[in-house]
Amino acid sequence: MQNELNIQPANRIGTVEEYYFSVKIKELDKLRKEGKPIINMGIGNPDLPPAPQVLAELNKQSSAENNHGYQSYVGIPELREAMSRWYQKHYNVAINPANEVLPLMGSKEGIMHITLAFVNPGDGVLVPNPGYPTYASASKIAEARLIHYDLDENNNWQPNLEALEQQDLSQVKLMWINYPNMPTGANADVKFFERIIAFGKKHNIVIVNDNPYSFILNDAPQSIMEIKGAKDIAIELNSLSKSHNMAGWRVGMAVSNAEFIQYILRVKSNMDSGMFKPLQLAAAKALELGTEWYETVNAEYKKRRVLVHEIMDLLECKYDIEQTGMFIWARIPERYQDSGQLSDEILYGCDVFITPGFIFGDKGKRYIRISLCTNQTTLEEAKQRIKTLKN
Ligand SMILES: Cc1ncc(COP(=O)(O)O)c(C=O)c1O
Repeated sequence: MQNELNIQPANRIGTVEEYYFSVKIKELDKLRKEGKPIINMGIGNPDLPPAPQVLAELNKQSSAENNHGYQSYVGIPELREAMSRWYQKHYNVAINPANEVLPLMGSKEGIMHITLAFVNPGDGVLVPNPGYPTYASASKIAEARLIHYDLDENNNWQPNLEALEQQDLSQVKLMWINYPNMPTGANADVKFFERIIAFGKKHNIVIVNDNPYSFILNDAPQSIMEIKGAKDIAIELNSLSKSHNMAGWRVGMAVSNAEFIQYILRVKSNMDSGMFKPLQLAAAKALELGTEWYETVNAEYKKRRVLVHEIMDLLECKYDIEQTGMFIWARIPERYQDSGQLSDEILYGCDVFITPGFIFGDKGKRYIRISLCTNQTTLEEAKQRIKTLKN
């Protein structure tokens, strides 16, 4: 039927593939249906619940009669104010709630909106390798010129700005950075953020820091907006997905100067019609939680991290114990051809799925990533299975 009508998708469909995890989850489901007791240690999908007061607020507000209509395109004032207070309290950054923050349905949608708001077809976009795959996909969909920059273990997984400056950067519009970094767990310091802001200003490149992991296993959460003058050239994406165990709720934010926020809003307001009000009110409650919330969440991740380190040791993988965020990233032994081989060996050998680093770019091909979003009992079980397989 399709062939008879000869309907072809747009060319851009050919530039991107279905998201790796979207495909992998289908394969894992198929294996489960065949009776395999699959353990998925791949995805950073928090299994712990949001705070009870957040759930109570959602329930209460959902029962109110007048909370079910379309909401404002810029988010309700209560949420924007809560986001602004959160930035002040935890990052010591002043954000005008009226026009310097835009609530998003998760930070992932912000990646597409920002790309569409700033990048013309053919413009250059700097994307980290290894890095979160969505930066590259959004650039491809927008028909941008993708310029991968390498992150290297020997440079603490930070870009080599001097090397980048050897290239012609005149047509480059946007640079994606992500600290605390996923997948490598590397952190950035003030000096790095200062250098990257100066780099953006010198070359007229908008710097976007994607910052969903700053509260996970990180003693001092940082925002790029702490740097003087950052707001002029930078945008920060932030999210409640990981920090508040609310990944399925889809609540994030973009923070920048009022003009940049307006550009992003021009795209976004043509795409959706606002978020469910009870969800926004409950998200505002989540942002008001005290430091004990983050401490409780991190206490659990710390215990899981010990188990994941033990699994990495069994696999003879090398890792930095200082990593931040909700994953452990580790270098595979030389005897493996690449991380896909190790991942397949474990999946088909003992029904445990570990993310191969190549999905984050070719610089990740000698690394694997294990998520801390698996409870301790299951991690123990995975450890025992891997031990048995190895013996
Ligand atoms: C680096 C990075 N950015 C963004 C996201 C998306 O987060 P959100 O749930 O806020 O869309 C993820 C999710 O895994 C991520 O790892």
